[in-house]
Amino acid sequence: MIIDGKALALSLKEEMKKQMPLLKGKYGRIPCLSVIIVGDNPASRSYVKGKIKAAEFVGMESRLIELPESVSEAELIAHIRELNEDNATDGILVQLPLPEHIDEDKVIDAIALEKDVDGFHPGNVANLWLGRKCILPCTPKGIIRMIESSGTRIAGSKAVIVGRSNIVGKPVAKLLLDRNATVTLAHSKTADLKKETLQADILIAAVGRPEMITADMIKPGATVIDVGINRIVLPDGSPKLVGDVKFDEALEVAEHISPVPGGVGPMTITMLMENTIECFLARMEKR
Ligand code: GUN
Repeated sequence: MIIDGKALALSLKEEMKKQMPLLKGKYGRIPCLSVIIVGDNPASRSYVKGKIKAAEFVGMESRLIELPESVSEAELIAHIRELNEDNATDGILVQLPLPEHIDEDKVIDAIALEKDVDGFHPGNVANLWLGRKCILPCTPKGIIRMIESSGTRIAGSKAVIVGRSNIVGKPVAKLLLDRNATVTLAHSKTADLKKETLQADILIAAVGRPEMITADMIKPGATVIDVGINRIVLPDGSPKLVGDVKFDEALEVAEHISPVPGGVGPMTITMLMENTIECFLARMEKR
């Protein structure tokens, strides 16, 4: 019933860990992920820590480049260009959001296409939508793996995605379409959201609004993937991490449902590891 993203992520990372000595033997080195973080946003710091920890777990190399909040756009881009040219770096990730004085688009555009482990570069996005070979964005890739792991049939299903972000909603729509689901991309201006979600065999909540998807919005037997990570404060003052789905009641209606935490989050990080290995292999094969 519960799609255990944490357990699935762990088993995938263990497989990757076994691969590392083989890669080292064959290519003389192991994959390396370089992460750039700007400033000290606590949420960003915590995500970056998780990514570096995962790299350590699988036994790949990682580098953390910490830049002050005051870094200029030009300096940041100079760091990226250096990593683009750095033969030892296979994947480059710039943690978002960036400070307001930096244009995120310019930064993403500066990352070498073949090292864009986030899959955010417009070249990768275009290739995704054209059905060409590309680096898939981590969260959507992880979501598909989670749906597949539950045994849910995607082909012929009706999938409803709530949220149309560039990072999750739009790319996951394309991945589901590629697997022959009939896809609805709903959003804050959707006329009758409940009418849409009630038809969903596969429901993906990626809006960033705490517990907005309630049991009455879920079709009995549906597979529900909760992408939300919302930090709320309970009436007693204690902090809590909740998703976009009201989990306890949704559990009664859905056939398969992913929890928060322990669902999409660990899978996103694991897909980042997988993408880094893919970028490494692509570069090694091109030599
Ligand atoms: N900030 C929130 N999610 C992400 C992500 O997937 N990648 C990067 N680089 N920054 C993020």
